[in-house]
Amino acid sequence: MVASRFLAVLAACGQLSYAACPLMSGELDSRDLPADHPNVRRDTTATPTDEFLAQFEVNDNDAYMTSDVGGPISDQDSLTAGDRGPTLLEDFIFRQKITHFDHERVPERAVHARGAGAHGVFTSYGDWSNITDASFLKSSGKETPVFIRYSTVAGSRGSADTVRDVHGFATRFYTDEGNFDIVGNNIPVFFIQDAIQFPDLIHAVKPKPDREIPQAATAHDSAWDFFSQQPSSLHTLFWAMSGHGTPRSFRHMDGWGVHTFRFVTAEGKTKLVKFRLKTLQGKASLLWEEAQVVAGKNADFHRQDLWDAIEAGNYPEYEFEVQIMEEEDQLRFGFDLLDPTKIVPEDIIPFTPLGKLTLNRNPRNYFAETEQVMFQVGHVVRGIDFTEDPLLQGRIFSYLDTQINRHGGPNFEQLPINQPRVPWHNNNRDGAGQMYIPLNTAAYSPNSLNEGSPKQANQTAGRGFFTAPNRSAGKLVRAKSSSFADVWSQARLFFNSLLPVEQQFVVNAMRFETSQLTSDVVKSNVLIQLNRVSHDIATRVASALGVSAPAADPTYYHDNTTTGVSVSKDPLLKLDGLKVGYLTSNAASGNTSTDSLKSALAALKVNLVVVSETLGNGVNQTYSASDASQFDAIIVGDGTGALFTTSNNLANSNSTSGYNATTAALSTLYPAGRPLQILQDGYRWGKPVGAVGTGSKAFDAAGIKTGTPGVYGGSDVSALSSDLEAGLKQFKFLDRYPLDQ
Ligand code: HEM
Repeated sequence: MVASRFLAVLAACGQLSYAACPLMSGELDSRDLPADHPNVRRDTTATPTDEFLAQFEVNDNDAYMTSDVGGPISDQDSLTAGDRGPTLLEDFIFRQKITHFDHERVPERAVHARGAGAHGVFTSYGDWSNITDASFLKSSGKETPVFIRYSTVAGSRGSADTVRDVHGFATRFYTDEGNFDIVGNNIPVFFIQDAIQFPDLIHAVKPKPDREIPQAATAHDSAWDFFSQQPSSLHTLFWAMSGHGTPRSFRHMDGWGVHTFRFVTAEGKTKLVKFRLKTLQGKASLLWEEAQVVAGKNADFHRQDLWDAIEAGNYPEYEFEVQIMEEEDQLRFGFDLLDPTKIVPEDIIPFTPLGKLTLNRNPRNYFAETEQVMFQVGHVVRGIDFTEDPLLQGRIFSYLDTQINRHGGPNFEQLPINQPRVPWHNNNRDGAGQMYIPLNTAAYSPNSLNEGSPKQANQTAGRGFFTAPNRSAGKLVRAKSSSFADVWSQARLFFNSLLPVEQQFVVNAMRFETSQLTSDVVKSNVLIQLNRVSHDIATRVASALGVSAPAADPTYYHDNTTTGVSVSKDPLLKLDGLKVGYLTSNAASGNTSTDSLKSALAALKVNLVVVSETLGNGVNQTYSASDASQFDAIIVGDGTGALFTTSNNLANSNSTSGYNATTAALSTLYPAGRPLQILQDGYRWGKPVGAVGTGSKAFDAAGIKTGTPGVYGGSDVSALSSDLEAGLKQFKFLDRYPLDQ
């Protein structure tokens, strides 16, 4: 380790041979050289991830074990006084090992504790210097390393991936002018308009303080008490209750910067912008019942999907886009651009794609990378600036503060995953875990003893960050702006813009959540707020609660719609990494249709997962370890009929007498009825289902009608794979769901 740190420092100097070494003082900084000087690194890319992180990797291959300070040791037995005596205090090996273990954990994130991350690269589509001086957007094809961490908000670190929640989508660009983070979510709006209310929101949503129940869920009194007392939360709540709250995977959701930011040119001219990372896989969601099952069957469902997709070379891709608005547009659209509970409808201001982001490398170590990455809203670069959005303003403070707590000191930016890929120079000193040896003994500004270095960089010198010159502050007030007052219209706009069946899911989600409230006061307050959005929604939710909705409250009712907010309207753009479960039987082994279907689907980058009673002979999974929630579509193989007959799906029993007796235990290899259950659940959860040859008999046992949308049969494997392709693109057959009359 010591050697590797030394090497790391050397390498840090070595790799920067074209710029000043971060540890040396008084040298000419390349930022002050003219733009055409060969040493100027502004137009190069930042050090790529593999090269940069390799300096910090520790490889234990073919090595003797050492203590933390390098001496070779053995660590499997404690040092005791005699054969059967007590362990000695002298045992430094024991103490070092156990002490390190005792301190292995750092506090989990206060929110967004559950997450998964990946490395990648951003490629700019062009030179965007007409709107921003951000260097990573300055030329076509310019590459910048990135790291994304996805998360849920409410659950703790070990909670399930598929709970219903807003999902974090934090993106870091390691630009050649420092790190730029978009600490965004998969939902474009937020619950509150002022950061001072964030602790209230989180205390209301997190488990009850006395019993710490429920984990990672909002179906409880305090959450809905807050939502109904603080109606600014309604718009975000509507998004979270829709398919956006239960994405199929991290790959199938968009990321949003939420706030309005500023782009700033070298001359200080500004535009207002909203950021989006648009999925190039297409959007897809799990249904609620399915997501609940997944949470129990595979708590790592999203994490696993991301890992597997990258390992298989199915790299998730997103387009980095902006909506661009003028400074004078702040109040032009009927709401305030500084209000984070509002979207700018995409039909009013379309998105401009600036570049493409591709995730292509899994982390080597979860703790060192994904757990220790510390995103901050305050990580901005020259060319990008904040707005006065009061939620954004508070966030600029909060992240740095909480990360000092998590790391136990201010030096977390020196961790490899947090280091910029360019040199840094400042007068910040000391603190726990200082990794470097600063040589400048004049650690203050201004100084003459180090010839004024490090020098101040600004708009005109050293390509420094600068605050947009046109910004101004008004009088001091402790109140929300009246321009933030209408918090109902856009919740309605969102609802109006969904498919009828997606609207039904929102209503169902609200019924699920509010039916678990114990307080009649909270239920009544919820209905009052829903009724301001829509009398129809309030009536439908009220019916499940066994009460009446209040009389219509039409102040904010309208029939406007917008585009781009539905999950299910558009087909998927790619099928990469989707899984089709192929249900077969040992008795049907050697069936050639399996292989042909497998290769036809492989051409679409879709995996055929063969399920049978036992492993071997091309089988990937047993029925005992399989469930419909693992597959995006389900096919029953030829010659498997016996597994699906209804008489074969009674409860297993080894009793020979009594009410529940069957003549023989059906199978000890999997739970009773599992093959049929997989088919039925798959159908119920809207997935394409199909059968090869006589496999279609399973449809009769399952009560599925052949010929209905998303149900395919026949012996022609190539026709079946084309049907499946179309079915997977549609992803969910939502006409299987009844709508309220
Ligand atoms: C637009 C509203 C917000 C969005 C989109 C958002 C998004 C996020 C995301 C994505 C993370 C996880 C970062 C990671 O993966 O490491 C996060 C963490 C966090 N957020 Fe927010 N957040 C919002 C509002 C707020 C507000 C208003 C506060 C406080 C004033 C806040 C405080 C925190 C804290 C303390 C963490 C934990 C950070 C860490 O320990 O590294 N957030 N947020």
